[in-house]
Amino acid sequence: MAEELRVRKIRNGTVIDHISAGSALDVLAILGLTGKEGYTVSIVLNVPSTILGKKDIVKIEDRTLDSREVDMIAIVSPEATINIVKNFRVIDKKPVELPATIKRHIRCINPNCISNGLEPIVSVLDVVKKTPLQLRCRYCNQMIEKRQILNLLGYDTS
Ligand code: CTP
Repeated sequence: MAEELRVRKIRNGTVIDHISAGSALDVLAILGLTGKEGYTVSIVLNVPSTILGKKDIVKIEDRTLDSREVDMIAIVSPEATINIVKNFRVIDKKPVELPATIKRHIRCINPNCISNGLEPIVSVLDVVKKTPLQLRCRYCNQMIEKRQILNLLGYDTS
């Protein structure tokens, strides 16, 4: 594979494959990986893919992802595949899945929303449309797009 000539296989860790072309840096951003954490990370941008035409890949050595991180990757790149590698072998492979509802992980962008107030209410955002992504707050009906989520998180690589 052409990609193998670019980045070698990893011994242990997570390979996020089939990332929409050009979105790998957004994936790093939502994972909060700045490079300062010390993880060995390989990033491949815009390589040919039979399924997607072009894709990005992120390989993070000696790091697993929790369910929140997988959900967040689905927001940035709904086609991505998470591969768990142990001793050079892929022992688990699953596509990310955008949940119908995102609770708590992302807050509503409306500062006046009750979920952003003093009440102990966690955010509930319904996925109205997958592509392009549109979320709607269950409390105030605010519509939220992908770019606004990245802005909210303090990351916007566009
Ligand atoms: N990979 C890696 N290190 C390993 C094993 C796999 O970096 N020790 C990477 C591969 O380069 C690939 C991804 O993990 O980007 C998935 O590997 P694999 O399942 O072997 O590849 P494919 O069969 O091509 O995957 P798919 O069918 O999901 O496209």
